[in-house]
Amino acid sequence: MPTATHEIKRIAISTGGGDAPGLNAVIRATTLAAITRGWEVYGIRDGYNGLLMPEQYVEGGLIRLTRDRVRGITHLGGTIIGTTNRGNPLNFPIKNPDGTIEEIDRSDELIRAFRLHELDALVCVGGDGSLSIANVLAKKGLMVVGVPKTIDNDLDKTVITFGFDTAVSFATECLDRLHSTAASHRRVLVVEVMGRYAGWIALNTGVAGSADVVLIPEIPYDLKKVAEKIREREDFGSNFSIVVVAEGAKPVGGEVSVMAREVGRPERLGGCGEKVANQLGELTGKECRVVVLGHLLRGGTPTSTDRLTALRFGAAAVRALEEGQSGIMVALDPPVVNYVPLEEATCRMKTVPLDSDTILTARDLGISFGD
Ligand code: F6P
Repeated sequence: MPTATHEIKRIAISTGGGDAPGLNAVIRATTLAAITRGWEVYGIRDGYNGLLMPEQYVEGGLIRLTRDRVRGITHLGGTIIGTTNRGNPLNFPIKNPDGTIEEIDRSDELIRAFRLHELDALVCVGGDGSLSIANVLAKKGLMVVGVPKTIDNDLDKTVITFGFDTAVSFATECLDRLHSTAASHRRVLVVEVMGRYAGWIALNTGVAGSADVVLIPEIPYDLKKVAEKIREREDFGSNFSIVVVAEGAKPVGGEVSVMAREVGRPERLGGCGEKVANQLGELTGKECRVVVLGHLLRGGTPTSTDRLTALRFGAAAVRALEEGQSGIMVALDPPVVNYVPLEEATCRMKTVPLDSDTILTARDLGISFGD
């Protein structure tokens, strides 16, 4: 494996976890910056599955990334090399003959596969899960640079992750559209957005899209307070309300709403919007409807902000490898992109600080958090 003093000839890129708009822009920037340095670039299919289960791919588990292959992809959603949130090599799920599922550590096997293919370094594009795996691989001697990706914006040590701006922009547009129908029918419209255990998407969407109530995981809610807010609005002649609910929001003293738990995968959140709408209907006597934006937030073309961040991250990752750096993540620390240890970036989740100026702004605008 190369170190600072070894020459790099071939690198690999992997995209892991849920997709986010901007992944293809990272792939393009990484590929072009590497080719410019005379390196070969390979995309590992579906996280690490291309190396761990190559037999599953007719054309092989690695995709050679050339100038041609990455032409015209900056604006495309998704990832041309595929992704998965099932293939964690540290807890790889295997099915026993009796049908039970067991998790095994395949990280040493994965490192051997890198050596077998003479891959000198890895650019790992992912969220907290993928980057925690990258950190372990780096500790085991693989040269690794991480790139922070997630629509949730919950990765620490970077001001922003790419994908977030696209998700918030789309959700804000949805709120704009929902305002007129909510007003026409004098309804309460509850809009559930993704974000896992952090309220970034809900908060930014709610403020930018003029919501009346925003419920986020960081502030447990009391629906009686939300109902009061809705009644208050009626007293002032506004017979409709828009309530944005983060999928990870929870009531005071209650738990998050989980849709599914499966071995080898993170728990799937969801259902909170439905519960909030039903209970608000009972508390206010108003007609309530729920809209779950879900995976719509992950699709589509990245905004120019996300494209630029993703391109800057991809190119910076290659510069870091050239400098011989490993075990680090590129991070946005405006106005610059810098490098932080993967260990620090993955040891805690970045949630919304309760004293952040966006929270204060929301309160000044009269938005209720149900507290
Ligand atoms: O982390 C990104 C994210 O979209 C979360 O906001 C959401 O909880 C989760 O992934 C959904 O994952 P899946 O694609 O497995 O449904």
